Amino acid sequence: MLSQVKRNEFSYRAPRGTSDILPREQGYWRYVEERAHAICQLHGYQRIETPIFEDTRLFVRSIGEETDIVAKEMYSFPDRSGAMMTLRPEGTAPVCRVYIEHGMHNLPQPVRLYYIAPIFRYERPQAGRYRQHQQFGFEAIGDGNPALDAEVIDMAWQFYHSLGLRGLWLKLNSIGCSSCRPSYLESLKGYYAERIERLCPDCRRRLVQNPLRLLDCKKESCVDIKESAPRSIDHLCPRCQDHFQSVEKYLALLDLPFNVDHRLVRGLDYYTRTVFEIQPQGEEGAQSTLGGGGRYDDLIEQLGGKPTPAVGFAAGVERIILNLKRQNIAAPVPPQPDVFISYLGEEAKDKAIEYGSRLRREGIGAILASSGRSLKAQLRQANALGMSYAIIIGEEELGEGKVTLRDMVSGEQRQMSFEDAMKSLKEKQ
Ligand code: HAM
Repeated sequence: MLSQVKRNEFSYRAPRGTSDILPREQGYWRYVEERAHAICQLHGYQRIETPIFEDTRLFVRSIGEETDIVAKEMYSFPDRSGAMMTLRPEGTAPVCRVYIEHGMHNLPQPVRLYYIAPIFRYERPQAGRYRQHQQFGFEAIGDGNPALDAEVIDMAWQFYHSLGLRGLWLKLNSIGCSSCRPSYLESLKGYYAERIERLCPDCRRRLVQNPLRLLDCKKESCVDIKESAPRSIDHLCPRCQDHFQSVEKYLALLDLPFNVDHRLVRGLDYYTRTVFEIQPQGEEGAQSTLGGGGRYDDLIEQLGGKPTPAVGFAAGVERIILNLKRQNIAAPVPPQPDVFISYLGEEAKDKAIEYGSRLRREGIGAILASSGRSLKAQLRQANALGMSYAIIIGEEELGEGKVTLRDMVSGEQRQMSFEDAMKSLKEKQ
């Protein structure tokens, strides 16, 4: 009895940090996804889908052991064979795995790929930060030219623009390559070591384990220190300097209003050279970033492929929708059936079933009334559903072998054969 009560008291809810995307929200989702497909088509990126889970080592190796994502946020579990699996915490590493596994270096380079996929991170949930979110991302693999950085940044910018979003900031930085970064890190470590007493416990750990992450700290005590920290662009080797200058030149050519942000390092370890983020103006803070990306020239090699430069970007769909709403941008309402079929009695119901199916075969969306209601109640239901037309099959219509076609907005209605009603509805489409 007790267990019965307890069972009844429990109410099931979506897990913390996840959400149900209800029909009323679908218009936004569809809108964002359609714009995503459109921008990719314009730029020649092809869709790729990878499994929702991968071998844990793929993410540890690529994202970096000392990052928050790997250290604290992955959904990892042993499968029944004991192999450690992880729900995808980001989309770049799986795409690189695909590139290597499917021998894509044999295709014309760069290979341009995109994905729209769920991402899982065990983060502290708040507005704009979830444990499951959807990412739209694209990757251009196999070309180290700075023109490709500019292509990817422009594509990200034009994507937001095509959604109607305005007032965005584009932040840019270069964090150098494996040959110039070590000297930068030395200088960063030296600077922070002199201020070690003022650092938060996390930053003391970062100082030893992953100094670049020091610039990522959001704690108030560390923010001041961060402001005067050495800048990566002052330590770039000549090739990285040239690369950065070319990216800046191309972005200016494309009229993209970027700012160089010397603190921008991103939260994943695989980046080299260019890193960038797009944020709504006036909203600093990690959970406001609409999207980010950069170059990752060493990653494919780290994962066992040939040395292959690459650059990419990913955007969080939920945050985009949040900003669309903030900017009062309405998403187009997804199309819905136009015709409501109401009927009275069993014989009319048979006709309703048949006519509904015939309309749909002609490409005319139709919904049948629920059984057992008066005609008046059925038409009320049609109004509540926002239907444009109703086909009514009552006793009189049955007797005459006809239907009544009603315009739900004007209230005008006329009896005619079903074939004529269908013709007229087709013309109105
Ligand atoms: P990321 O900055 O970790 O980059 O994530 C990309 C975007 O996903 C963020 O800018 C944000 O809009 C959204 N996002 C991240 N975490 C959450 C969350 N917990 N809740 C809601 N939205 C979130 C990457 O993942 C890289 N793979 C991007 C990339 C692609 N770099 C090169 N290619």
